[in-house]
Amino acid sequence: MTASEIAASFFEYACIAVAAVIALYVLLLALLTTSIFQSHVVYLHAIQMTWFKDLNVPETFGFRRNQVTPFCIKTPDNEELYAWHILPPELYRKNEASLIAEPDGFVPDIKSRLAFKLLKDDPEARLVLHIHGAGGTVASGYRVPNYRALSAGNPNKIHVLTFDYRGFGKSTGSPSENGLTVDALAVVDWAMNVAGIPPSRILIFAQSMGTAVSIAISKHLALQESPVIFAGTVLVAPFVDVATLVSTYRIAGTIPIMGPIATIPFLFKYLQRFIRDKWLSKDSIAQYIRANEFNEKKYRLAIIHAEDDYDIPWHHSQLLFWHAVNASIPTGITYEELEEKRVDTMADLGAAGSVMEWKTNHGVIREEILKTGLHDVIMGYPVVSMAVMRFFEAADPSFTS
Ligand SMILES: *[C@@H]1O[C@H](CO)[C@@H](O)[C@H](O)[C@H]1NC(C)=O
Repeated sequence: MTASEIAASFFEYACIAVAAVIALYVLLLALLTTSIFQSHVVYLHAIQMTWFKDLNVPETFGFRRNQVTPFCIKTPDNEELYAWHILPPELYRKNEASLIAEPDGFVPDIKSRLAFKLLKDDPEARLVLHIHGAGGTVASGYRVPNYRALSAGNPNKIHVLTFDYRGFGKSTGSPSENGLTVDALAVVDWAMNVAGIPPSRILIFAQSMGTAVSIAISKHLALQESPVIFAGTVLVAPFVDVATLVSTYRIAGTIPIMGPIATIPFLFKYLQRFIRDKWLSKDSIAQYIRANEFNEKKYRLAIIHAEDDYDIPWHHSQLLFWHAVNASIPTGITYEELEEKRVDTMADLGAAGSVMEWKTNHGVIREEILKTGLHDVIMGYPVVSMAVMRFFEAADPSFTS
């Protein structure tokens, strides 16, 4: 072979390799337009992360015997959602002997249990309704330290209720935008009507994918004929909507899967039409704020994000905060105008990040940006315990630690 022949065949191989990469990418995009593949990418429900461990043995995740009651909540469309009721540590300790004496494992009738009575019969009990992110189960990743952080402000009074959406873990069914919304509403219904906790003693905590679910149900409940408003809502690492999330999403924080497409606006717009579950959080949060302002209901919303979150860039929180603040002002406010206000009102906490609070006659919208905390680790941080206590105390000043 002459040198030019070698060059020619090398060129041929290079062409084939490039064509193969492009073909694979197009195939991936084509797969992404199918709803089954999309649902696995958005919800990651097949990735349980608690393999080889039994969720019905919460001790293996670090809990004390019967500190967690595993049980089921039924949805109106007959799915069974696997749930955990988690007792705060001090309340557990004070009732330790009686709790240990009860049988352990999955509980078919939670109403028969002491843990349930400790929640239902205490007029001072508070309940954090936990709405988790994509993938995994109630026990995976940083969710367990998250539960500890939620109760930390008052370890006698703050219970946690967490559940797996349809198609996740031991729950039946398969996930969809409508389905997850139905699930979270069924859990709210359980909290209010079975456990008998009024919304003024309930706080919603959500992270990542769960923030979209929580905003959807908050909007739904605020727009009802008799609106339901909770003591507060704490959102960690939210996003504005799925289309925007997809354009910024990086696999393992490095590979921008939609990067090449996002640079071709018309193609990206075209592909967006195939997104089945859009989760339009920025629009829903605005509707939620407008409804509460109109109804003169007291609402409390905290948006928390870490600057080093590689999964969902913290810019999403700034945008969501702006959409929420904009909706609280009849004439609206531009992003730039809000940025100008930031200069005077934002508290710069140095390495701890920054806090900005927007107050109206009816509500408060807080944005807390941490310098560090990644996407999940932040859930176990004191900023979460404090956000919970701040809103429970604001809803009822007699409630302190
Ligand atoms: C901001 O609020 C104003 C007034 O309600 C509204 O007309 C405008 O569409 C909002 N802007 C955005 C980006 O939602």
